[in-house]
Formats: sequence, structure tokens, C-alpha cells
Amino acid sequence: MTGSPAEPESSFSGEDFVRRPESGGPAVGDREAVAILDFGSQYSQLIARRVREAQVYCELYRYDAPAEEVLALNPRGFILSGGPSSVYDPDSPQLPSYVLESGLPVLGICYGMQLLALNLGGKVGPAQRHEYGPALLQVIDLGCSLFGELPFALQVWMSHGDRIERLPGGFAVVAQTDNSPIAVMAHPGRRLYGIQFHPEVAHTPLGADIIRNFLYRVCGLHGIWTPAHFIGEALNAIRQQVGDGRVLCGLSGGVDSAVVATLVHQAVGDQLTCVFVDHGMLRQGEPEQVIRTFEQEQGMRLVAVHAVEEFLEALSGVTEPEEKRRIIGEKFVRTFELESGKLGHFDFLAQGTIYPDVIESAGAGRPGAHRIKTHHNVGGLPEDMQMELVEPLRTLFKDEVRAVGHELGLPDEIVYRQPFPGPGLAVRVIGEVTWERLETLRAADAIFTGELHQAGLLRQQDGQGTAQAFAVLLPVRSVGVMGDGRTYANVIALRAVTTDDFMTADWARLPYDLLARASNRIVNEVSGVNRVVYDVSSKPPATIEWE
Ligand code: XMP
Repeated sequence: MTGSPAEPESSFSGEDFVRRPESGGPAVGDREAVAILDFGSQYSQLIARRVREAQVYCELYRYDAPAEEVLALNPRGFILSGGPSSVYDPDSPQLPSYVLESGLPVLGICYGMQLLALNLGGKVGPAQRHEYGPALLQVIDLGCSLFGELPFALQVWMSHGDRIERLPGGFAVVAQTDNSPIAVMAHPGRRLYGIQFHPEVAHTPLGADIIRNFLYRVCGLHGIWTPAHFIGEALNAIRQQVGDGRVLCGLSGGVDSAVVATLVHQAVGDQLTCVFVDHGMLRQGEPEQVIRTFEQEQGMRLVAVHAVEEFLEALSGVTEPEEKRRIIGEKFVRTFELESGKLGHFDFLAQGTIYPDVIESAGAGRPGAHRIKTHHNVGGLPEDMQMELVEPLRTLFKDEVRAVGHELGLPDEIVYRQPFPGPGLAVRVIGEVTWERLETLRAADAIFTGELHQAGLLRQQDGQGTAQAFAVLLPVRSVGVMGDGRTYANVIALRAVTTDDFMTADWARLPYDLLARASNRIVNEVSGVNRVVYDVSSKPPATIEWE
């Protein structure tokens, strides 16, 4: 588990035991692409997402990646990210020479703009005051391509200490703010642009349009990176890689493995065998849905392994969360090994690695975030499995994986499924995991998420809804009264959060009526529960899961 903390998949991450194909993945083909160089900004991934949202393919590279690697993308333009350094710091990241030598369009953002200025003979210096927060941008050069069809005054998000003091030769000021007389500079002849603010963040409401203008109006791209385009490329690449070999894929019920399996199945049909391990920690109806969707509807070779009793036995008496994760992880490997061993030899393992995982493991300039939970997924591979990895989603962000899944015709319940931890309900049954307690939780969870679904709130869209919502079974009992009798029964906590990145989260302001209905139904319909509470903690200081 790496860059996508919310990854719901049971991904099979046996890095030590598998080989990556030498070609490094799908061929670039004739796709229109831009290269983003990461100078250490916390927003670099967001730039890449905005570019992809404009339907232009891009890749994010460390600023010091080898020139051949970046140029192999055949980029049609460069975007230089921001970064925490000052261009005059002795060890500050420098602009690689191939960028300007290429003659291609360049958009420098914040630190990227300062690098452009410095390398082209301008002057950068400390701003009188550090500017952090909203600013009003006034566009002076109304003909500038970056601002085509945009208003003359825009709200933008600033975050910088240095600013441009003298323009490099041939550049003109395009826009300014109160504190930055040169907030945007351009050399249209050389197609070089620098902007001091951050167009990639949501606090610059029209930022996506500025990026789109750079891609379409400056670089002359057409926005051909669509799910259908990706699927076409991916099917070819999978066929080429796999030939007539046999492919194994672990299905978890999550979106990534579902999309991988569907793609590989469309590419090579019955050369693919999927293994689904039901460990008993899934949500209500999930095992049945996996079998229905992949075996019955898609006609895949699917081996469903019922291993609930073994997992419960291994978890018996265990209450410590990390211990639960470790036991489930280990047990999963053993079960997977045993079952796939019965299916003969496989040449390839298809796996749902996605782009944020790739970026994170490449360590693009920033130290890794401090890890508070191990988050290791149910997965890992037995040592003697010598398989080559097939990872068709390595270039996709999560929302692109969903778009591809949708295009492939997967059901919405799978495509838009909320993140679900690998160890599943085992970390939502606080305390000891027993079948009875799992069933209590499953029933309560189904009521809560069912009510959210009914209200259209089980997806986070346009600032509405929830990114993750679930029930938790607490290890305490509380006193209640039902009819004329006193009860002493279980407490269910409901948790619902809004978040964009799962690194921070806020509790969802759900309608009281919905909470009332969910609470009422849970105490009435789920035996052994007499109290429901709603978790109003943000992350930090709490985490999304309770364990
Ligand atoms: P926390 O609880 O740390 O969770 O705020 C952030 C996101 O990660 C998910 N999560 C896990 N995912 N294996 C996983 O695959 C795990 O062990 C695990 N623990 C937490 C959590 O559901 C949330 O989306």
C-alpha cells in the first residue's frame, strides 16, 4: 500500500517475487502527452490530475529524472511544478537544460516560474511579505492565450516567498496582483509562460481553465485521452505482453482489481483465471456480487474460495488492530497460494497498481508521509511464484480507473464503490472478531449505507455526499429500554467523512432526518443493538477507521 491511502483493494503486492516487464508497460503510441516536472510541491499530483481531466495524457517526473526518460514520452509541452525551495538556495533543484533546448511550450508554476525567469536572465527576489492565500488577479494582456475566454479579474491562490523582480528578455507582464506586479509573464513567441499562483488547486476556481488553455491553445493539443482511447491501448498492450501465456488475477470486490480483471479478460479471454477469497470480512452482499458480476455476467473463469472458518479461527481472541491486519494478511497469502497452486502454472499476475502508487514508490521529491497505520493490504505473494506482472492501470488516477470501469460496462456498485480496507470489517468490529459480531455489523452497515444510497449521498460529488461511510461495532454495551424491559446491548457508531485525498477528512454534515432514520432502523432491525452514535471527529486528530 503506497500512495493511495484509501485504496480499498486487496492488491497482491509481492514486489520481491514478481518481475516487471522489460518494456515498462504500454507503448506510448501516438498519444498527445505533456511532461510535468516535480520540484517538490505538495500540489504536483494535482497538476497531473487537472491535465488528465482536460483529457490530455501526462506523466509526472522528478525534476532530476534522466532526460531520456522524460523525452521518451515524446512530450508536446512541459509544466514545471512549484516547490518549497528558493531558486537561490545552494542546493535548490535546477531546471534541466533539455526543457528550454526542446523549443516546446513551457508553463512554469510558482517555483517553476522563478526557474524560468532565472534561466532566461530575469531576476528573482524575496517578496516584501510572504503571500499565502487568496488574491485577486488582474489580467492586463487580454490577448494572452492562457486567459482566452476568461474574465479580466480572477480569484487565485498564492503560496510563495520569492517573486519575479525583473522580467527576462522578450517577456511581458500578463497579469498582476496587489503583492505581485508580475503574477503572470509570457513570451508568446517562444511559448513560455510563468504564473506565480497555483491554478491546480480548488481555491483557484478557474485554474482548470487556465491549464486547459495552456494545453489546447498554447500546446495545440486536442484532448484525445479518453477512457475509450485508454481501453484500446491497454487491450493491445496486454495482448502483446501476455501472448498465449496464462494470467492469474486476485479479485477483491474493489474497483481496481475489477477493472484489471475485466480488461485482461477482454484482451485474452480464458487465458485469465481469477481467484476470489471470501474471508468473511466483506460487506453485506459483496461475495455474491463478485461471483454474479464476473462469473455469471462476464463469463470469466473464477475460482471463489470460501475460507471464512479458517480466518475466524486465526482471529480468535485477537483484539489488537495491527495483529488483526497481520493475521489476515498472512492467512490471505497462504490461502491464495494453496488455491492458485491447484490451478496449474501461471506466467503472469494481473494487479491493480494505480498511478499514485507508482508516483509514491518512485519518491517524487518529497519525503514519504509519516505512516500511522501499516495499511498493508491483504496480499503479498508466496516466494516461489515466479510471475511477471501485468499492471494495465499503472498510469491511471483513481477517478480515471472508475471512468474506464464505467466505459467497460461494470455496474455502478462496483465502479463507484467507496474505499474499503483490505482487512475489511475485522477493523470495524472493535475488539474480538466473531461471526456473530460480524453479522451484527454487516446488518447495521447495510442499513446505514442503504439510507445514504437512497438519499444519493453514498458518493462524493460537487461538494455533496460522503467519500467514505460505514458502521462500526463497539466493544461496549449500554443500557436501554425496549417495550417494558431493560436492555443491555451493543452500540453501533456511524462514521461518514468527506475528503479528497483521505489524508485529512472532515465528518460529513449528514441530514438529521437521515441519521434519525438510520438509527431507528438499526435498533429495530438489528438484534442486539440498542444504541447508535454518530462520530463527529475530523482527521486529524482522529483517523477515518476506528482501528
Ligand atoms: P485512516 O483510518 O488511516 O484511513 O484514516 C485512511 C484510508 O485508508 C483506509 N485503510 C486501509 N486500507 N488496508 C487498506 O487497504 C488497511 O489496513 C487500511 N486501514 C485503513 C481507510 O479505509 C481509509 O480509506
